[in-house]
Amino acid sequence: MPKTALLFGLSEGGISQALADQLLDKNHRIYAVSRNACSYKNDHPNLNCLDMDFSNRGWVTPTVGWIRKNVSSIDMFVHMSATSTDANSDCPLELTDDWRNDFEVNVFPVVELLSACNDLFRPGSRIVVCSSNGATRGTKRRRFTYAAAKSALNGLVKGSAVQLARKGITINAVSPSQTLTKRVMQKNRLSTDEEAVNKLPLSRYAKSEEVSKLIYYLLTDSPEYLTGQIIDIDGGTALNY
Ligand SMILES: NC(=O)c1ccc[n+]([C@@H]2O[C@H](COP(=O)([O-])OP(=O)(O)OC[C@H]3O[C@@H](n4cnc5c(N)ncnc54)[C@H](OP(=O)(O)O)[C@@H]3O)[C@@H](O)[C@H]2O)c1
Repeated sequence: MPKTALLFGLSEGGISQALADQLLDKNHRIYAVSRNACSYKNDHPNLNCLDMDFSNRGWVTPTVGWIRKNVSSIDMFVHMSATSTDANSDCPLELTDDWRNDFEVNVFPVVELLSACNDLFRPGSRIVVCSSNGATRGTKRRRFTYAAAKSALNGLVKGSAVQLARKGITINAVSPSQTLTKRVMQKNRLSTDEEAVNKLPLSRYAKSEEVSKLIYYLLTDSPEYLTGQIIDIDGGTALNY
């Protein structure tokens, strides 16, 4: 049966696009919010988009209004929005705007939306947030605010799972290692050095579709008993040291 998905963060060539393709293939309806969400398949009848920037607090009222106008119940809620810039400072103990921006975009929308749309969730609704294995393994020096924000998401999943379970709702985080997405490749984030790649257990980075398949599973077929988990998808990388 077609279901309704709210997708925060939709961009071409990202994990979100792979997920949107899977959901649309199965005739699910998507309501997507992102800075440039409307540029992706904007003529698809099951895809409704709203362009919005989460780094500016002005997004809350119009976004919640748009959701409430269009959606009477939420079956799937996915949060993928994430900053992709390096911090301006080398020093994690300096309160720069990066701290605020990374929490504004990566964390607060989840709390804000789950709270404002609380009454639209039903028994059987599924929530998935996209974390990162940088939250537990650490990241390169200038990504510490990003890693801290992803850790906050992990805490949110653990902290809310029991309350949501009482209502028949699951919440989980997917925690990918480096994944070949358009943005990551544009920013040259992944080393192409053969030696570095060969150190990975599968001798390659993750594909977007591999991560989105896991998210899709958690949104559809996974058992209700699977909740409150941070699920690594890293090809065994964390075990390889
Ligand atoms: N790729 C990796 O190696 C990797 C590894 C671990 C975790 N992850 C996580 O996986 C998720 C998807 O990653 P991806 O690589 O597919 O990245 P992506 O395409 O960059 O996805 C990030 C999304 O966040 C949106 N976004 C960024 N800033 C925003 C803002 N200020 N307001 C509203 N939306 C904003 C982007 O929208 P715009 O297109 O409009 O900018 C984009 O749709 C992210 O949560 C990321 O942290 C990725």
